[in-house]
Amino acid sequence: MSELFLFEGTKMTPLFTSKEDLLFSRDEFLVRDDDVIILTYPRSGTHWMIDIVSLINSKGDPSWVQSVPNFLRSPWIENDAAMKALNDQEGPRLMTSHLPIHLFPKSYFTSNAKVIYVVRNPRDILTSYYYLNKQSKVSKQENFDEFFNRFIQGDVVYGLWFDHTLGWMERRDKKCFLLVFYEELQRNIRGSVEKICQFLGKNLEPEEFDSVLHNSSFSVMKENKMSNMGQPIFHASTEAPMLRKGISEDWKNHFTVAQSEAFDKLFQEKMSHLGPGLFPWH
Ligand code: A3P
Repeated sequence: MSELFLFEGTKMTPLFTSKEDLLFSRDEFLVRDDDVIILTYPRSGTHWMIDIVSLINSKGDPSWVQSVPNFLRSPWIENDAAMKALNDQEGPRLMTSHLPIHLFPKSYFTSNAKVIYVVRNPRDILTSYYYLNKQSKVSKQENFDEFFNRFIQGDVVYGLWFDHTLGWMERRDKKCFLLVFYEELQRNIRGSVEKICQFLGKNLEPEEFDSVLHNSSFSVMKENKMSNMGQPIFHASTEAPMLRKGISEDWKNHFTVAQSEAFDKLFQEKMSHLGPGLFPWH
């Protein structure tokens, strides 16, 4: 099993990145003004957003999402091979990252690149991450309780959810930054995709728009191997599915009362200063 390593306070996996890659992406990688970047903490709906934006870019034509794997359509900044591919790519580029703000390319902060940051209830993230972890090459033989404890201590790949979210949410009022909640995508996918189109400056015909909605739906994505696929280097099997249940509040089927109370307390401690009504979950 490959051990995680700590890089400037954040746990990372050597299967996907290295200290050298992280230094290079932060200090040398050039973000361009016309880049669109999908940013998330793991299990927040990254692959869903990759398909939504891919489909918007192809004006609803599903052939791109059906023929090219998600990680080639929207390469990962923190992975060496993907970063090299991005360097050679003509714009406008679409790319993805799970990096926390303090490890993100410095060039982004003086650019006009657009960021879509997807946030999800961390209780559902924890639950989803537990299952993902079981199918990864770095998986430990651990039960839910053990994973729960690692998650709330930030001892998982990409570190503590609270740090990641607080760091990026500071930018939520910036013009080139769109905050999207997973729960809002579920509640109102039409309105959410309209908002994303507007943010990206894309106008779709009604039938193109409907095709985006159809082809990014859970049932269609689940059947599409190019969407329901993780990075081969990270997963124990090339068949590792990225889509599991696609619902909210599955955490209620997993957390004990004590875990639920402990999480509420932690959430309160870390996030209450943001004020009420920001997050769409209770
Ligand atoms: P669950 O494990 O709760 O089902 P990420 O892409 O960031 O790894 O996030 C994966 C989570 O997003 C999984 O959650 C997955 O099922 C969910 N997801 C992916 N595509 C989705 C879609 N089209 N609709 C709803 N949920 C989706």
